[in-house]
Amino acid sequence: MPDTLVKAPALELRGVRAGYGRIQVLHDVDLLVPAGRVVALLGPNGAGKTTTLSVASGKLAATAGHLHVGGQHVNGASAAALARAGVCRIPEGRGIFPTLTVAENLKLVGFLGSKADGVADTAYERFPVLAQRRGQLAGTMSGGEQQMLAMARALGSDPGLLLLDEISMGLAPKVVADLYEVVGQLAATGISVLLVEQFVHTALAIADYAALMVNGRIVRMGEPADVQDAIQETYLGGGR
Ligand SMILES: Nc1ncnc2c1ncn2[C@@H]1O[C@H](COP(=O)(O)OP(=O)(O)OP(=O)(O)O)[C@@H](O)[C@H]1O
Ligand SMILES: [Mg+2]
Repeated sequence: MPDTLVKAPALELRGVRAGYGRIQVLHDVDLLVPAGRVVALLGPNGAGKTTTLSVASGKLAATAGHLHVGGQHVNGASAAALARAGVCRIPEGRGIFPTLTVAENLKLVGFLGSKADGVADTAYERFPVLAQRRGQLAGTMSGGEQQMLAMARALGSDPGLLLLDEISMGLAPKVVADLYEVVGQLAATGISVLLVEQFVHTALAIADYAALMVNGRIVRMGEPADVQDAIQETYLGGGR
């Protein structure tokens, strides 16, 4: 039997509402990330994609609806509690320590609760460029290298669900392709991924499912081929 039928979904939002102050941004969002699958959350600027990731990571509380992680009802759980439950979000700004070296950044993952040993070794194996730069201050590396370090740190916490928000931001196409190759490899190891991405084709190429969000609502969810035309019409501008 396929995994998806026996394993609880990695993430499930049902009728989720959330916003900032009195402004509601998410309106009854239903979103499912099956275990071990990659879901792309796509949509125009301001649609509510980052807000959705904030709810999923516990940074922003839902004002209505249900949030499930690995089959557990986790409404109201803190970001720290969800991190312990295996939810890992790469923060905007990448969440690395710019004035520490690469090696120190990787060492700190261990101090944050997971097994320290092996985090750096795995990182250097997966991203050889980090091994070459282990003594360099993280803040002086290129954008792509910093993104790799951010990913390596995220993986060091051994996540079950990875939340990625535009990891391509400001990076050259070749670097983006390399990063997404790693995302694909991670998914192959069973990590579930919810990714937000402006490069629609890049995202759809590795996604098992895609969801199109417009004005805080999921207007389409399905396999990439079924959602592609709706994306084109909704925000990429007409025919292909
Ligand atoms: N901290 C905040 N306080 C107030 N409003 C916010 C805040 N963060 C986001 N918003 C508003 O919520 C709406 C959704 O924003 P969000 O960042 O979720 O969109 P997005 O889909 O990620 O857009 P983009 O593709 O531009 O990153 C926008 O109208 C935005 O201005
Ligand atoms: Mg965003």
